[in-house]
Amino acid sequence: MRELGLINGRLIEMNDNVITMEDRGHQFGDGVYEVTKVYNGKCFALRPHLDRLYQSLRAIRIPATYTFEELVQFHEALIKESGITEGAIYLQITRGAAPRVHPFPEQVVPCLTMSIRPSGPSNQEMWEKGVKIILIPDERWLRCDIKSLNLLGNVLGKQQAKEAGCYEAVMVRGEHITEGTSSNFFVVKDGIIWTHPATNLILKGITRTIVLERLAKELDLTILEKTFDASFIKGVSEAFLTGTSTEIMPVTSIDGKAVHDGIVGPITRKLQLAYTKLIDEECGRN
Ligand SMILES: Cc1ncc(COP(=O)(O)O)c(C=O)c1O
Repeated sequence: MRELGLINGRLIEMNDNVITMEDRGHQFGDGVYEVTKVYNGKCFALRPHLDRLYQSLRAIRIPATYTFEELVQFHEALIKESGITEGAIYLQITRGAAPRVHPFPEQVVPCLTMSIRPSGPSNQEMWEKGVKIILIPDERWLRCDIKSLNLLGNVLGKQQAKEAGCYEAVMVRGEHITEGTSSNFFVVKDGIIWTHPATNLILKGITRTIVLERLAKELDLTILEKTFDASFIKGVSEAFLTGTSTEIMPVTSIDGKAVHDGIVGPITRKLQLAYTKLIDEECGRN
């Protein structure tokens, strides 16, 4: 098993020096990315991740130079050649390399880099017991729906959470709770699940969509895509985060106050079980 990279379709060692100084991803954050989880040697939900990648490329006007089939092939090659069966594949496409000027260069070819890494320490204990989060102001730009490389607001927020001994920082824009720095946020009140609508102010997470369009339907749960504010949180019975690596993570404390009685609630548990079952089915895990 070895960590492995790929640049423009060619497999490389993870630490090979391959990016030129003037790559626009490096200098401007001018690019987009995706992260896909690998379970049992198979990518989970690869199609929606690649669909979103093409949407992000269109949104920042980077031409798509790889087909869907090629990208699938690259994911499979990384899994096969690395021998990694449980891990994550990172993919980014930048506008390419050219002398540094702000407007799009005339002749530039997008640069695709990918890498595969095995999963880190298990989140099992956190999935069982829940995690603490803090609320922080959302200081990001207004196109959070694009999965762009510009993650400074997210990086600073996550560091703030870490320094507060928390798993995640959930952001508040004006009155409204938007999302976590690398996750979507949900609360349960009076049996109804609430989450921020998929506007320009949040990333429309793949895990969020699975919860909304598949799991909630299967489990006959009601979900409302509607904004809510920080004071609304005082009365909630459950809260949870969703994300590719986070999966469905119960939140048991917000800003130092227990959510309900600080115990993972029944709706979160049902969603966790259904999500695990879906991974088992799609990736042939047992
Ligand atoms: C800001 C933000 N919101 C939400 C998510 C969750 O998205 P997904 O479920 O597609 O991983 C992520 C994932 O990285 C993210 O960075």
